[in-house]
Amino acid sequence: MGSCFSARIRADGPRQEGPSSRYGSIDERNTSSRRSFSPAPLTPRKDSGILESTNLKSFSFNDLRVATRNFRPDSVLGAGGFGYVFKGWIDEHTFKAAKPGTGVVIAVKRLNQEGLQGHKEWQTEINYLGQLYHPNLVKLVGYCFEDEHRLLVYEFMPRGSLENHLFKGTGHFQPLSWNLRMKVALDAAKGLAYLHGPEAKVIYRDFKSSNILLDANYNAKLSDFGLAKDGPKDGKSHVSTRIMGTFGYAAPEYIATGRLTARSDVYSFGVVLLEMITGRRVLDKNRPNGEQNLVKWARPYLSSKRRVLQVFDARMEGQYSTSAALRAAILAIKCVAKEPKYRPTMDQVVKALEQLQLQEEVQKHHGTCAEDYSGKVVSYSDPSPSPISA
Ligand SMILES: Nc1ncnc2c1ncn2[C@@H]1O[C@H](COP(=O)(O)OP(=O)(O)OP(=O)(O)O)[C@@H](O)[C@H]1O
Ligand SMILES: [Mg+2]
Repeated sequence: MGSCFSARIRADGPRQEGPSSRYGSIDERNTSSRRSFSPAPLTPRKDSGILESTNLKSFSFNDLRVATRNFRPDSVLGAGGFGYVFKGWIDEHTFKAAKPGTGVVIAVKRLNQEGLQGHKEWQTEINYLGQLYHPNLVKLVGYCFEDEHRLLVYEFMPRGSLENHLFKGTGHFQPLSWNLRMKVALDAAKGLAYLHGPEAKVIYRDFKSSNILLDANYNAKLSDFGLAKDGPKDGKSHVSTRIMGTFGYAAPEYIATGRLTARSDVYSFGVVLLEMITGRRVLDKNRPNGEQNLVKWARPYLSSKRRVLQVFDARMEGQYSTSAALRAAILAIKCVAKEPKYRPTMDQVVKALEQLQLQEEVQKHHGTCAEDYSGKVVSYSDPSPSPISA
C-alpha cells in the first residue's frame, strides 16, 4: 500500500529491503462519495469510517488470532508496508477459527503501525474491495476493527505474488514460463480493464508485480486497493491527488503533476509487462549503472527489431516465437509511452494479449504475419504502425 513521496512514512514497516521504494502522502480519499454501482445502499459503519457491506464478515481479533495460531512466525506469507500477512484457517460456515488443514484457508493482513495513513488505506481497501467483484480481483472475505487492531482477511492465493515468481526464482518459486507470463499478463489486464470500465470507474494506482497474486492454477488477481481512487467524473479529464504509489511503476506525468488518469495505470501495466519480459526488477541497485532503471534501459532495445530479443529473460529461451515476442515488446513500449495519449486503453491491451495468445496457436500451423492491437495485420518490416524499427 502507500508510503510517503517526500519522506517515506513506511520506514518503520516490516519490509526494509524492498526492491522498489513506495511514496505518497496522506490523501483525501472520501468514503462518503462512494460510487453508485454498489448492490446495496451504504451507510458509514459507526466509528470505523468504512461502509456497511452485507457481504463482508466482521471478525473479532480473537477469531483471527486463533485462526493464525497466535500470528505465529511460521504462518507468515509475506510482508509489505502495511504489515505482515499470515496464513490462517476458518470454518467455511461459521467463520470461526478452524484447525490448521481444515475448513478454508485465509490470508490475514495485520496493520502494524499506528496513525491515520494505515487506517485510511485499511478503510479504502474495504470500501473498494468490499464492493468490486471480478474473477481477476482478489476476494476480500472480511476485516477486523477492534480497539487499535486493523486487519484484513482475504482468500488465500497459494502461489503467492508474481514478484516472488519473477525475482525469487531460486528454491521455493520456479521461474514462470513464457506461456504462464502471458496468461498472468492477460488476467491482470482484465482486472485493470474491469476497474477502468463503466461499472467500476476506478483508478487502481498501485499496479506492480507484488500486488498480482496467483491461485493454484496460476489465475492472476489484483490485490491491495488501499490507494485506489474514483476516476474523473462530470467530463473531467483527470483526478487531482497527492502523489502516491511506488517508485518505478508510477507514470511520469502523474509524478510531475499529481494528475491521475486511467492511463497512469496503463503505464504501470507496461512496467510490469517489461518485468515479465525481461525478468528484471523495475529498479535494481545491484545492476551496473545504466541498467538500474528497467524502463530507461530497455527502451532502446524495445524500439529495435534487431536488438529486442536481447532483453528477453534468458530463463524463457526457446519458449516463444519471435513474432509473439515482438508483439509483447510492442505492447510494452506502447504502454510506457511518455505521452499518456499514445498509450493504449486497458481494453486494447486485453485485446492485444488475447490476439497474441491466439496467434501463438495459429502460427504453429501458418506463416509469420502478426496483428497489432488495433486488429490490423502488420508486417514488422513496415515501421509505420509499429514503434519497432529494424
Ligand atoms: N491473499 C494472499 N494470499 C497469499 N499470499 C498473500 C496474500 N496477500 C499477500 N500475500 C503475500 O504477502 C506478501 C506481502 O503482501 P503486501 O500486499 O502486504 O505487500 P507488498 O504488495 O509486497 O508491498 P506493498 O506494501 O508495497 O504493497 C505478498 O507479496 C504475498 O507474497
Ligand atoms: Mg501488496
